[in-house]
Amino acid sequence: MARVANALHVGIAGLGTVGASVIRVLAQKSEELTRQCGQNIVVAAVSARDKSRDRGVSLGNAKWFDDPVELAKFDGIDVFVELVGGDEGPARKSVAAALERGKHVVTANKALLAKHGIALAEIAESKGVLLNYEAAVAGGIPVIKTMREAMAGNSVSRVFGILNGTCNYILTRMEAEGISFEECLKDAQRLGYAEADPTFDIEGNDTAHKLAILTSLAFGSRIAADQVYMEGISNITQADIRAAADLGYRIKLLGVAQQTESGIEQRVHPTMVPTSSVIAQVHGVTNAVAVETDILGELLLSGPGAGGNATASAVVGDIADIAKSQPGFQHGPVFGRPVKELKPYRKAGIRSHAGGYFIRLTVHDRIGVFASLTKRMAENGISLESIVQQGHGQMKSAEKTVILVTHETTEAAVRKAVDAVTSDGLLVDKAQVIRIERAE
Ligand code: HSE
Repeated sequence: MARVANALHVGIAGLGTVGASVIRVLAQKSEELTRQCGQNIVVAAVSARDKSRDRGVSLGNAKWFDDPVELAKFDGIDVFVELVGGDEGPARKSVAAALERGKHVVTANKALLAKHGIALAEIAESKGVLLNYEAAVAGGIPVIKTMREAMAGNSVSRVFGILNGTCNYILTRMEAEGISFEECLKDAQRLGYAEADPTFDIEGNDTAHKLAILTSLAFGSRIAADQVYMEGISNITQADIRAAADLGYRIKLLGVAQQTESGIEQRVHPTMVPTSSVIAQVHGVTNAVAVETDILGELLLSGPGAGGNATASAVVGDIADIAKSQPGFQHGPVFGRPVKELKPYRKAGIRSHAGGYFIRLTVHDRIGVFASLTKRMAENGISLESIVQQGHGQMKSAEKTVILVTHETTEAAVRKAVDAVTSDGLLVDKAQVIRIERAE
């Protein structure tokens, strides 16, 4: 299509759930966006794998490209919107190509940023263009803008959150309806929340990518996604959910980054949070991010974390920011400070993590089991807040469930104690260990 006067020309690569939603929102809100931005936003070109597929949206006169890299290089666009996904291949090549040619980029691709964000930020800086990625973390919640722009001068001590809509949706329904993990996952896929490969959701990779980006913004450090400790939710059972509820907790998959004396902890794992805490009230596909700082105190943002409209809202916001920027406008750094000012990431290993623990053990029902368990805990300096024995209908009479809740201790101590209990031959099954997170 020919260039339109007084318009920002956008090329969109990837026309799945999110791409189609972005096109729909840009069309529906065209007049309002023009009033807000002072110029039209025109979808000048698109790219996807299958040209013939009906996506339920009109592509108008947009020029079609089979190859997103060719679209990224196309002179007829000012902004390249990458919704292809994946941390290598076409996504990486097309974003780099667009930045190299001095085009602004908008992306929802957390995996790409987690792996190559610093290198891409360097290109964006050198070319004086924007690399906007609000949709990459927590869907529609404007957490990137908040942390990058609105919190300058704050020193962050901890950032944590529910960053994966699919997992929160699954855990919420498992608790509320007592239905199986598999059934909930199928529904999350049907509703367009899950990644192309849903193991990325349920094993914690998606949360880890998002957390690594937040860690960089929070602590001014280089992104270190490969240093995130990760456990997913696939081994969470109804027994854990029920035991958590009995003890006044709810299980959430959290991403947590925390400044400690030995460095920065980055961890993703199923977590017990008090049922009365605000984060425990975040249900379904909703995400939430809590940030604790010295000046602001505690901030909690929550909102829709996945799905076409939530993600499109953030993508369109990023495009509109570019449309509003004037020629000669100095763009802020991609990760809140120039790349050369980002500190190396200093890792605190998971074994030094300090906190409370929930330990669910299925034990042989024998004399002395309690005594042996408590002895092993004491030997490792673990103080117990509670110890409860449960037996229920489905269990063999020779087995019992014992649930231990510890006071603050270390991961190293818990692992040693559980290893000792396991080698004592007390357990019928592998121990279930879930960390407890402080939350108001
Ligand atoms: N699969 C992701 C989620 C989509 O469930 O949150 C948004 O990144």
